[in-house]
Amino acid sequence: MGEMMRQSLVVGNWKMNGTLASAESLVKGIIAGLGSNTAEIAVCVPYVYISGVSELVKGSRLALGAQNIADKASGAYTGEISAAMLSEFGCKYALVGHSERRTYYGDTNESVAARFAQAIAQGIIPVLCVGETLEQREQDQTIAVVNEQLDAVINLTGIAAFDKAVIAYEPVWAIGTGRTASDEQAQEVHQHIRQYIAVKDAVIAEKIQILYGGSAKPDNAKGLFAMPDIDGGLIGGASLEAESFLKIYHSV
Ligand code: PGA
Repeated sequence: MGEMMRQSLVVGNWKMNGTLASAESLVKGIIAGLGSNTAEIAVCVPYVYISGVSELVKGSRLALGAQNIADKASGAYTGEISAAMLSEFGCKYALVGHSERRTYYGDTNESVAARFAQAIAQGIIPVLCVGETLEQREQDQTIAVVNEQLDAVINLTGIAAFDKAVIAYEPVWAIGTGRTASDEQAQEVHQHIRQYIAVKDAVIAEKIQILYGGSAKPDNAKGLFAMPDIDGGLIGGASLEAESFLKIYHSV
């Protein structure tokens, strides 16, 4: 019942892949295949392609996103890209706290919260990525880990900020491994996340899009998207070709 009021959303995460030429043909291919599907769709592209892709998506329903966002507004932070810069190019979304950022580049729950706040301040929708490692799952810490990741953000911004945010549940053990969470495993955590938010704000909980990410493919997307608390997907590998990304999009 509740899911009826939520718009579905499929987001591609290209990670550090592609060339100027492949980025252009991928975006054109996606736009050409959107059809009459009214679900939301976006691509989170490498920073250097944001300007070009922002031109290509004009007039289409394909939205643009970044894969990260600085935790500060401006200043002497060599190599960083601010929320204000991203909004100049019409970025609608920015991933924050992707597990690859947390694992390889030292993003902490605190810096992820600051990135989330920067996005909100510029009217960019943060896609807050949460999820447990295999070790944490095996030690039954999944819910505790996800709660901690959510709490860090809620404590900084307050629950009201989630009115303009998306959450992506991405079990780390499923990302890029070909090992997808089962529909039920994913639903269990999605439902928990929604209930956890509902304790603080029932209206936001009912409204917020919670995406699943981690080896989502054309052949497993339908089952995942059919679960009541899964509102779409964050797609890595399968978003690098228009055909597979569109198949997933049209499964939502
Ligand atoms: P994957 O990546 O679909 O390649 O597993 C998902 C993600 O990291 O967002």
